[in-house]
Amino acid sequence: MENMSNNYANNVKSSIAVNPTFKAICEFNIQQFPVDGYSRYYSQLRNGTAILQTAEQLNTYLASYADMHQHKLNLAFASLFAKVDFNNKSAEIIDWGCGQAFASCVIIDFIKNNNINLDLSKFTLIEPSSMALQRGLEHIDAIYQRKPKPKTYSINEKADTSLSIKGYQSSSKIKIHLFSNVLDIHSLDLNQVFKNVTSNFDGLNYFVCVSPINRLRLQTFYKMFGQSDLLSSNGSSIVTEVFRPSAMRKITKSISRVEYIFKTNL
Ligand SMILES: C[S@@+](CC[C@H](N)C(=O)[O-])C[C@H]1O[C@@H](n2cnc3c(N)ncnc32)[C@H](O)[C@@H]1O
Repeated sequence: MENMSNNYANNVKSSIAVNPTFKAICEFNIQQFPVDGYSRYYSQLRNGTAILQTAEQLNTYLASYADMHQHKLNLAFASLFAKVDFNNKSAEIIDWGCGQAFASCVIIDFIKNNNINLDLSKFTLIEPSSMALQRGLEHIDAIYQRKPKPKTYSINEKADTSLSIKGYQSSSKIKIHLFSNVLDIHSLDLNQVFKNVTSNFDGLNYFVCVSPINRLRLQTFYKMFGQSDLLSSNGSSIVTEVFRPSAMRKITKSISRVEYIFKTNL
């Protein structure tokens, strides 16, 4: 595990070289997950809400949750792209509380797998764990094959501290904001997140909000935008295959999901 933490970026790149996708990154991490990983590290994740600080925690989070989150995100992106034609357009991604940038990586896979000609020109990653943030940058770099690569801009902060990043944004660009498994966190101050969005991002903004629980918090956030256009809201459970770290194998499981997808002009 120590070597893995030092050389993660190189190792992950070479292991997924033939198939550079987020799915392949997940399989790489599951293969690296140690047999005693569940007993040693799982509780440290605090149901996924902890601000991660070690390579072992990052690997355990990814092995434990990536299958599930990936599935929910794919359904959310299917809803978004069914409603909006992004072909031949360019957009910027803002991934709030990005962790290891699962949501950014899943949208990259999604547009590639579905032959959507959307140019993702910039990724802004906002995350309080510096280690997770670094890994998020490494994941985007590992799966992005296009040259030149998109710009990345990382902000090692909480999403609910006051952010002044307007100078780095262009009002003419379409923005797609990703809130993956973040808005449901009770300690997150939704009012401050709303202020950070409205004070920093002008123009056309899309929001993809996905969580396992706490539909009301996602709805509250959506309603703060007043004049916004709701594209999808969903609260169904889905059955999918996920890696279970306590059993060291994949199982078929029902997982809950809530999503709010909307657009607004700011
Ligand atoms: C459940 S994880 C989700 C991570 C990632 N978005 C995903 O889908 O895998 C919650 C993330 O929120 C981060 N976090 C915790 N408090 C936060 C805050 N106040 N603002 C932004 N992110 C926060 C944690 O560090 C962690 O990466």
